[in-house]
Amino acid sequence: MFAIESLNVSKLYKGSNKKALDDVSLKIERGKISTILGRNGAGKTTFVRICSTQLLPSSGKILVFGDDVVYSPEKIRKIISIVPQEGRPLRALTPWDHIYNWLKIRGESNSSATRKTCDILNRLDLYSAKDIPVLNLSGGMKQKILVGMAMATESPLLFLDEPTIGLDPVSRRQVWSIIKDWKNKGRTIVLTTHYMDEAELLSDSIFILDKGKVISKGNMTDLRNTLNYQIRVDIHESSKYNNTGIKDLFSSFGKIINISSDSIRLFTFETNLQEISKLAMNTNLSFAVSPITLDDIFVNLLGGK
Ligand SMILES: Nc1ncnc2c1ncn2[C@@H]1O[C@H](COP(=O)(O)OP(=O)(O)O)[C@@H](O)[C@H]1O
Ligand SMILES: [Mg+2]
Repeated sequence: MFAIESLNVSKLYKGSNKKALDDVSLKIERGKISTILGRNGAGKTTFVRICSTQLLPSSGKILVFGDDVVYSPEKIRKIISIVPQEGRPLRALTPWDHIYNWLKIRGESNSSATRKTCDILNRLDLYSAKDIPVLNLSGGMKQKILVGMAMATESPLLFLDEPTIGLDPVSRRQVWSIIKDWKNKGRTIVLTTHYMDEAELLSDSIFILDKGKVISKGNMTDLRNTLNYQIRVDIHESSKYNNTGIKDLFSSFGKIINISSDSIRLFTFETNLQEISKLAMNTNLSFAVSPITLDDIFVNLLGGK
């Protein structure tokens, strides 16, 4: 059985004339990290809200561990935790209150709630701020409280809707490390993000959502293969050659896209590298070579930035 099966799910919000989700069919495996990747407005939050029984689909069907979100919401709510995108912790309460009370509501004993609250506060580097009211905490710390609440529970299925938004690089890594530990304990994680590095680092499978539709899916290797090229070369314009001039010089080596007003990106094969370097050096153009990233795949699928 899959953790989540979405069958031809569409969502049209009242008063809107554009589908937020348009015929989404996908299967999310148990015990894995699955990422829904997409730009703002792609439909990520809508999908998560339907899966977590906060919103009804307009049509189609979603099963969570075999149960229908429309007919068995109570049963599903017991086995999921969510870091909601629109969540805000309460101003007068402390990080400790939020996490401890949440665990108590979920039925944990006092001692287990205390132990788990300490553990997660430490892991998120929030322990020293545990008794400070939320109104005196930074935006990043507030976000970490929401992450901590969901992550402190032992729910087999966790929804993380852009969990690292607004977090500094160290905090992001702390959250990533907890996500990986969760997976190692056999839990299922559904992550949404628009951060390519996060998706690339954590995901067992990725679903790229755009304008409510799944436009690509697979693991990193599958997605890399959709691009067909092995490396990228960024070439910067010079006094002699502008972007158009560079394109003319290099177009025979692969696919070229504009990435900024003064440089282009060439997707190509390793076997072309020697010739490309020679040409760049002969024409005095500076360039940088790197492997294809998820960002490239994304830009390629969506047709340039
Ligand atoms: N409550 C709502 N009412 C009407 N339209 C909405 C509502 N929530 C989201 N939308 C629209 O649905 C689309 C998908 O939004 P959302 O699921 O929030 O995308 P994402 O999380 O990927 O940024 C957007 O066009 C958004 O404007
Ligand atoms: Mg969202």
